[in-house]
Amino acid sequence: MESFRNPAELHAWCAAEKRLGRAIGLVPTMGCLHEGHLSLIRLAKERCDRVVVSVFVNPTQFAPNEDYDAYPRREQADLDLCERTGADAVFLPAPAAMYAQDASCRVEETLLAKTLEGAQRPTHFAGVCTVVAKLFNIVQPDLAVFGQKDFQQVAVIRRMVRDLDFPVEILRAPIVRDADGLALSSRNAYLTPQNRASARCLSRALRQAQDAVAQGQRDAAAIEAAARETLQAAGWAPDYAAVVDAETLMPLQTLLPGASALLLAARKDGLRLIDNTLL
Ligand code: PAF
Repeated sequence: MESFRNPAELHAWCAAEKRLGRAIGLVPTMGCLHEGHLSLIRLAKERCDRVVVSVFVNPTQFAPNEDYDAYPRREQADLDLCERTGADAVFLPAPAAMYAQDASCRVEETLLAKTLEGAQRPTHFAGVCTVVAKLFNIVQPDLAVFGQKDFQQVAVIRRMVRDLDFPVEILRAPIVRDADGLALSSRNAYLTPQNRASARCLSRALRQAQDAVAQGQRDAAAIEAAARETLQAAGWAPDYAAVVDAETLMPLQTLLPGASALLLAARKDGLRLIDNTLL
């Protein structure tokens, strides 16, 4: 497995692979890899000849009050996991290699990025779009794989790819969950054992919504109210419980079967978790 810290060197390696006719898959991550990330690498491997994993805690997607400094970093463990999972190259740039000190350009999606997570984190998605656009330019992947866990992120990136004509296919990979239902996330490391146990309320609320829909429920407000109740009963304060159009993220009054999603965000003791399901 190759590893690169310099964008130009990674770009040259990818260009040489492409000249040999090899399809490249990109798995962008912020490191602290877990089974969820490894599932993305495996999916990219199934579809592509070469898989590049980026491990970069991107400063521009964190607001000043957020956890950029505290965000868990485990470079050697990440390299080992990438190698064992079959990645062909890992990209571990320093922030200075990605952003010139006087960088003055960014990529901003101006519609989907404003709601839900964007309402709480107004600068977040411009940071995500900017770094993902840069990674696409450096790697020029045929396929990029993102986890469904960050549902809005995938929708925003798909919109960026469509509107800016990036020649890359975006694959949304299923959420990987612990045995008790909690969606895997690097930030789960912040949970105390007690909060870890009560955090199951998110996946429980999603399952209840799936069951209700299977029994014919189509009223978005009723699905949202039931989800909020489940979160609150477990001591988690909902930021949002929203039934949305799965592509545009616009709020729905009536479920569009097969094209809707329920997105949740909830807080407890200074921690914030998100989860979602297609409905
Ligand atoms: O989902 C993440 O880990 C990040 O937002 C991403 C896509 C790697 C961009 O920094």
